[in-house]
Amino acid sequence: MALGRAGGHVTPLQDKKLFVKTYGCQMNVYDSDRMTEVLADRGYTAVDAPDDADLIILNTCHIREKAAEKVYSELGRLRELKAERTARGADTMIAVAGCVAQAEGAEIKRRSPVVDLVFGPQTYHELPEMLDKLGEKSARRAGLVETGLDVDGKFGRLPKRAAAKGVAAFLTIQEGCDKFCTFCVVPYTRGAEYSRPVATIEAEARRLVDTGVREITLLGQNVNAFHGDGPDGDAWTLGRLIRRLDTIPGLERLRYTTSHPLDVDEDLIDAHRDVESLMPFLHLPVQSGSDRILAEMNRRHTRDAYYRIVDRLRAGRPDLALSSDFIVGFPGETDADFEATMDLVREVGFAQAYSFKYSPRPGTPSADRDDHVPEQVKQDRLAELQAELNRQQLAFNRSFVGRSMRVLLDRPGRSASQLIGRSPYMQAVHVDFEQAAGDAAGAPRPGRGAMLDVSVIGGHANSLAAHPLA
Ligand code: 5AD
Ligand code: SF4
Repeated sequence: MALGRAGGHVTPLQDKKLFVKTYGCQMNVYDSDRMTEVLADRGYTAVDAPDDADLIILNTCHIREKAAEKVYSELGRLRELKAERTARGADTMIAVAGCVAQAEGAEIKRRSPVVDLVFGPQTYHELPEMLDKLGEKSARRAGLVETGLDVDGKFGRLPKRAAAKGVAAFLTIQEGCDKFCTFCVVPYTRGAEYSRPVATIEAEARRLVDTGVREITLLGQNVNAFHGDGPDGDAWTLGRLIRRLDTIPGLERLRYTTSHPLDVDEDLIDAHRDVESLMPFLHLPVQSGSDRILAEMNRRHTRDAYYRIVDRLRAGRPDLALSSDFIVGFPGETDADFEATMDLVREVGFAQAYSFKYSPRPGTPSADRDDHVPEQVKQDRLAELQAELNRQQLAFNRSFVGRSMRVLLDRPGRSASQLIGRSPYMQAVHVDFEQAAGDAAGAPRPGRGAMLDVSVIGGHANSLAAHPLA
């Protein structure tokens, strides 16, 4: 139970249960954790299932139609849950947060009257005030919609971060996007680009490390467009920020995501060459290999420009593993355009990638076009692309068999003799201690949070198998 102190007596605050369900990207994972912290100050304890929750928050994603529709199916289920709880005399408050909330606002309440509160990604620091406005009892609640896009005050008002949950943590350093790719809702749901000041990022990183974090992934919708105010008054680049964070004792690994090719500058390329804690894995979405489609997507880079960036990065860091995002079936995409994408994939070689069928999003310029690609064609192209990407991923994973690497052990494995760690290249590594020579003799086993040298014995579609290095 959460306790608060008042007038020298220990008085219980409201002991309420909170369930947050997160959809979509890592930025939503970070936001959900921050919401949980804001609400912990109000006496809410996070629980793992909605059944007994007094407050349920769906932190939603609007990037593709499927993602948005999932929210409405979940709300259907929650309507039944709320009715059951009401019959038992329990009150349930249901909130929709995140990008669907931002994009659809009051429409959500019209479609699902069970929803009490709708709030966008830039307003969750005001959750306590929103709950006050709503009042306690469902029956008397009029409902509330908060979808302001002013990010400036948000980070300053959030509580100091509580202890991190694991040894790898996310840290949002940038939000929003000014790129306006013609397929994408992000500039509308997350608003204009905003970068946090360097000093507050560094303070948050140090606090995370103090609570046991060894790996930090810097987050932003357009993270390498970072231009936060530095302590010297200049706007700092992401490369410069990385060099600064690299000096924090105990912070072993840094990553960042998601980046845009246009913002890969010299500083960042040099950081990949020089900064040892910056892991040799980069998610660099390209979307298409056809210059014509790239132009119509308003990506503002060509296929050749992407090749040049990859070459420069690999010149400084030859083992750099690449990941990417692809969209197939953008309006007007021909067989030849799609072939150009397949060709780029074969040319670059990816360790991992995400690929999607184009999904028209209301309000984006490409949604209104009259040359949409038939569903079956999208389906076939996606299957062909994914087959090649899966083949590359398996080949990449198999290439490690017989080699050693350093992993960060971050979670329990399937059996008691296993721990799962993460490789420098983002692979999940299942480390088995039982079969390791010497273990039977009682050699001390490292725990979660340890960095361990392992020998890879198997490469699979989505993971590696390994033993501790003797
Ligand atoms: N349709 C399909 N995929 C999309 N993405 C963004 N918008 C759309 C859309 N309308 C993909 C892009 C982006 C990733 C996060 O989601 O590949 O990089
Ligand atoms: Fe969306 Fe990324 Fe393009 Fe921004 S850069 S509009 S977030 S796809």
